[in-house]
Amino acid sequence: MKPHSLLMILFGATGDLAARKLYPAIYRLYKNNHISEHFALIGTARRPWSDNHFRQVVLDSIADQVDDPDHAQEFASHFYYQSNDVTDSDHYIHLQELAQKLDQQYQTQGNRIFYISLSPKLFPVITSQLKAQGLLTNQGYNRLIIEKPFGYDYQTAAELQAQLTQTFKENQIYRIDHYLGKEAIASIKNIRFNNTLFAPLWNKKYIDNIQISLAEDIGVEDRGAYYESSGVVKDMIQNHALQILALLTMDEPVSQTSEDFRKAKINILQHLRPFQSPDQVNSNVVRGQYGPSLDGHLKGYRQEENVASDSTTETFVAAKISINLPQWEGVPIFIRSGKRMDQKSTTINVIFKGLNESEMTNRLSIEIAPKLGYQLFLNIKEPGYSNANKVIPFSYELNSDQASYMPQDYERLIYDCIEGNLSNFTHFEEVANAWKFVDSIYENWEKMETSDFPNYPAGCPGPKKAQELLAKHQTYWY
Ligand code: BG6
Repeated sequence: MKPHSLLMILFGATGDLAARKLYPAIYRLYKNNHISEHFALIGTARRPWSDNHFRQVVLDSIADQVDDPDHAQEFASHFYYQSNDVTDSDHYIHLQELAQKLDQQYQTQGNRIFYISLSPKLFPVITSQLKAQGLLTNQGYNRLIIEKPFGYDYQTAAELQAQLTQTFKENQIYRIDHYLGKEAIASIKNIRFNNTLFAPLWNKKYIDNIQISLAEDIGVEDRGAYYESSGVVKDMIQNHALQILALLTMDEPVSQTSEDFRKAKINILQHLRPFQSPDQVNSNVVRGQYGPSLDGHLKGYRQEENVASDSTTETFVAAKISINLPQWEGVPIFIRSGKRMDQKSTTINVIFKGLNESEMTNRLSIEIAPKLGYQLFLNIKEPGYSNANKVIPFSYELNSDQASYMPQDYERLIYDCIEGNLSNFTHFEEVANAWKFVDSIYENWEKMETSDFPNYPAGCPGPKKAQELLAKHQTYWY
């Protein structure tokens, strides 16, 4: 495969995400020869770093992946730094000078990826400056990668879209949802559409319910200030959980193009049934906030740094979601996510209906993290004299060696962006419809009291009501 030619301009190059995720991801692409001599990266941020200091930061961030120090040095030599005040036009003029020089030096063919890893508040000023100061090239491609959140509700997302599209067209905007870079999530379409065992059965006639569980054992760590303005619904549900839901329930795309792939997801997100009243939210959505652990070892959310001592921010949510489409009528999709639950476990369970009212059902379980694996539960006869039924799993799990070769979330997504493949990036219509649904939860929560917070101790599976939500449907969280 021929390596790609490109110049990447990264805003937020001194940040935590860049060092933890982006440089290691780009290094793996370099090691695998997807990018090589025709690649350069300009890192920008406020801090006055030199190229050499920047390269050392990059080298430090990839240290645990280096087999050949000379090759790592060679990689780091493609990194350049320019200090930048994002509101100052002059800085973009200098940035353009450096970009043009590197275009020549590395023969990047005018291909540019602008990656903004900064507060979303800065997206509009940066993109409008990029346009005003002529940083978009005429030959080659121009692509924008941005991190979540895309807006804070439907209204602000629509405003942001209007601002960004003054510079970039929708199909030049790559909105990162890092869950779409996960191996097991990318596999959902293959499982659903390439198996005779599943494709014809994937509907309300044969599926009883679907469960998506994004449980975390960590708390809010040092992100209290951000989390106070977010909560788990905006942090995990609006994006990650609803994306998984869409992948699990969308119709088979009419073609292999990313346009048709995203259209299929949009159709689902447009048909999520919004909650119309506090009563509806009350019976379908359970929210929680963690208190100190029972042994006092872990802090409660309200004791975390930069969190109000009477905060009403939710750190846990479980919900029963319905889709207003005939093929999904009556099939509940249960989702839950929370901080400081008893374990990290990102899983999907599809529970099929039993035959003839029997309780012997089939279940497909997809484990996304911490392990990566698939299990299909089938019924056989209990081996031996007995004729009783026995449930057995057919399992496939990647071992740690195999898992270490899998592209990491950001690696896969940056690779897709370089390839111009938008399938694993969210279209504005996906984001907008996800917000409309999520807004319907918040609008009703605003009318309700949260007097029972905190309502689950850190280190447990969440509030009891989350179990009751499924019990009403004669099921439980797998
Ligand atoms: C992020 C959230 O999007 O996803 C974090 O902002 C969360 O709060 C993280 O911890 C979880 O991602 P992963 O890949 O560890 O499941």
